Amino acid sequence: MPSETLTIVDNRTGRKYDVPITNGTIKAIDLRQIKAEEDDFGLMSYDPAFMNTASCISRITYIDGDKGILRYRGYPIEQLAEQSNFLETAYLLLNGELPNRAQSDQWVHDITFHTMIHENIKKLMDGFHYDAHPMGMLISTLAALSTFYRDAKDIYDAEARRKQTYRLIGKMPTIAAFAYRHSVGRPYVYPDNTLSYTENFLSMLWRMTEVKYEADPVLVRALDVLFILHADHEQNCSANAMRGVGSSHVDPYSAMAAAAAALYGPLHGGANEEVLHMLDQIGSKANVPKFIESVKAGHGRLMGFGHRVYKNYDPRAKVIKKLADEVFEVTGRNPKLDIALELERIALEDEYFVKRKLYPNVDFYSGLIYQAMGFPVEMFPVLFSIPRSVGWIAQWEEMLLDSEQKIARPRQIYLGPPVREFVPMIKRP
Ligand code: ACO
Repeated sequence: MPSETLTIVDNRTGRKYDVPITNGTIKAIDLRQIKAEEDDFGLMSYDPAFMNTASCISRITYIDGDKGILRYRGYPIEQLAEQSNFLETAYLLLNGELPNRAQSDQWVHDITFHTMIHENIKKLMDGFHYDAHPMGMLISTLAALSTFYRDAKDIYDAEARRKQTYRLIGKMPTIAAFAYRHSVGRPYVYPDNTLSYTENFLSMLWRMTEVKYEADPVLVRALDVLFILHADHEQNCSANAMRGVGSSHVDPYSAMAAAAAALYGPLHGGANEEVLHMLDQIGSKANVPKFIESVKAGHGRLMGFGHRVYKNYDPRAKVIKKLADEVFEVTGRNPKLDIALELERIALEDEYFVKRKLYPNVDFYSGLIYQAMGFPVEMFPVLFSIPRSVGWIAQWEEMLLDSEQKIARPRQIYLGPPVREFVPMIKRP
């Protein structure tokens, strides 16, 4: 039987160390025993951007980036997109199992009856400038929610955690829709508990003078599927922020504001907005080859392409590409689609992209759908944050209940100046 250990020889000292291998991993802390001198701190591993470091053990989401596989709690994303709905998928991510009928009804009821926001939150949102970015409004409002729910600090009380979960998932669409309505100067539309999660969101966004808003069922389903696809993605930048900030034992609203802030960046949730800007900049199908050449020459990136984990076609992008056709049947074809298809075609054949395993990611087509549905680009990261709130909560709770986790606190390699004497201003050159 081969031994499940790694033997390390320190050539500085000639000493040999056996380090256990568990789940294909060695513990970085096991390196600490390796010292050149007795008073040495011990060996550390250096891994900027966590390229090869597992920060946790998780049982939520599985990705095989080389094969293009994504599963929530073991269920393939394609099956969930086809057969589940967003709230059911949310229940699965949070509880580990699909709900039975009674559990499902209770869950939908609990989320639905936590969609209203305090009137003072509404006033807070009113205070934003007329052209405030809705993502900035969402981040700030999430942080502000912590001041409304004092029990949010009881993070080790399962009941209190459940309550914040209902509130966060229930209120995300309301805050998102209010942020949008504020930006276009329209009155806020209050939640309608007779509608499904996604229908209600569309009603809060688009309802005008009609008594009841009736969304197109194709668009309701499309948005629901997009929500399923975006619900979790294991240790991405924002989940890592949620875990890292949550590890200080702050309340989940504050941690989620940090996670949403991480999502706001153009390399993460802001990428689909960048895709549309890029397609606008390209302008026409004929300009695609020239654009590809400029990317290859190092002038910017092909937005919506490439992924830290996927070195194959992002499975979510496959589902979205199909969804786009259904949506465009209702909304009319987004003229930028032709440029996007041409970009994809050329990039997938091009040696530069092939060699680097750069494939379309989830953001390549999602922006086109959102735009066709009538969303302004500023709303894209907000639309991403609504479903991702589920993943953030699942990751946060798993971190809290993991006895191996502590406050997240990486080490550094200090290469700055050594100790030196302070020089008074008068003596400085
Ligand atoms: N266009 C052109 N070249 C690219 C792209 C791209 N989109 N992405 C990576 N590359 C190149 C890099 O220049 C680098 O080339 P080199 O080896 O010659 O230096 C190589 O591919 C590897 O790139 P890295 O930056 O090391 O890859 P990393 O894993 O750090 O980056 C990332 C992943 C940030 C997603 C990157 O591919 C990127 O910037 N893509 C565009 C932005 C985007 O679409 N983000 C959305 C990600 S999905 C999500 O967050 C939901």
